[in-house]
Amino acid sequence: MEILGIDIGASGIKGAPVNVKTGELVAEHHRIVTPQPSTPEAVAEVVAEITGYFNWKGPVGCTFPAVIKKGISYTAANVDNGWVNLNVEELLATATGYPVLVLNDADAAGIAEMEFGAGQGRGGVVIMLTFGTGIGSAIFIDGKLLPNTEFGRMEIRCQEAEHQASAKTREEEELTWKEWTKRVNEFLATMEKLLSPDLFILGGGISSKHRKFLPLLSTHAEIVPAQFRNKAGIIGAAIAARRHFR
Ligand code: BGC
Repeated sequence: MEILGIDIGASGIKGAPVNVKTGELVAEHHRIVTPQPSTPEAVAEVVAEITGYFNWKGPVGCTFPAVIKKGISYTAANVDNGWVNLNVEELLATATGYPVLVLNDADAAGIAEMEFGAGQGRGGVVIMLTFGTGIGSAIFIDGKLLPNTEFGRMEIRCQEAEHQASAKTREEEELTWKEWTKRVNEFLATMEKLLSPDLFILGGGISSKHRKFLPLLSTHAEIVPAQFRNKAGIIGAAIAARRHFR
């Protein structure tokens, strides 16, 4: 069975049909740069463009980089403020003409990794972190998601973690891998102090470069790169939609 998964990010919006029984993309993903300003209307148009590109007729799973409860977004850390208190599911269902399930982007990435990737079959406390424009988090307890955790926004020495250690910050401040991992290590140590995880899965765009930075990270818990890299959001969105619309 196939479901169209769409991953809305602060810099790009990408989608692809996903075989939800295997977690594989059944076509090359299609990516469009996120409009600036990233208003709900402009983003909804892009989502409709992606469903049109695949000539998609059916339910859609879609991620969004915010706290999402019952289809409504409550935050807008890296997107236009017009998203706060907005029913994203309604907006996108109107734009595409099909039912849409919306969930937090890191939660979706975690769902994909737990089902088919680096967290497959892993019990205990697993923390997925995505490093991109911001830092997303998803926590699983014996495979069950605790949704909408926002650990990237946790303050460490009076500054949100994602403003110190996201992939975007690394680029903007031109940090070396050593400088950047020093900040990530502080973030991971704080997470460990609070949550004692058994496994960290590191994802987001930066995970393709894991050979450069994983050896510089030191945690008590095991730490592995995301298997689906930055496609995890697309895959997780499709899996979540399949579960929801079943
Ligand atoms: C948002 C989170 C999101 C993360 C990664 C943060 O700024 O608050 O909801 O998961 O960025 O995109």
